[in-house]
Amino acid sequence: MKDRGRFQALALRDHDLTPAECMELARSAAELVELDGLEREGDEAFELLWRDEHSEAWLNHWSEPRDTGFHDHGGSCVGVHVLEGRVCSEALVVGAPPQLREYEAGGSFAAPATGIHRMGHEQGAVTIHVYAPPLREIGHYDVVNGELHRRAGRPDEASPPSPGLSDALAHEP
Ligand SMILES: [Fe+2]
Repeated sequence: MKDRGRFQALALRDHDLTPAECMELARSAAELVELDGLEREGDEAFELLWRDEHSEAWLNHWSEPRDTGFHDHGGSCVGVHVLEGRVCSEALVVGAPPQLREYEAGGSFAAPATGIHRMGHEQGAVTIHVYAPPLREIGHYDVVNGELHRRAGRPDEASPPSPGLSDALAHEP
């Protein structure tokens, strides 16, 4: 659907990107996306825009609300830009107030390679996510019998919700 060559040319670098560079690149890549041309049918869509030596990027457009659950990016940092709709990102914090931030169309954020977060996509949200270095895996977190578990998933696997961990954090004193 997309002219991959234009995205690949835009992404060309000689180094792994910093979180801020990922965010800037997500913003630039958004200018190459024609929102009217996006396929809006089906429950979910995520499309690889490019993957090269130093970064990779996904265009996500969700026709239903979506909770990614808490996950890490396997050692990659990330920059996210919102093209349409609204999303939130919640960092995993323990013993501190929740850190939930909302972003509307035109908004962007970056996260370091060390972080664990959860994203909420409102119905119809369209986002670009740039990861550097390219994703090796996604770590999915949840609480099982009171223990925090991490399960390694593929980069192209949609992150599932983490109801046990979300419940546990909601009930923290
Ligand atoms: Fe993420």
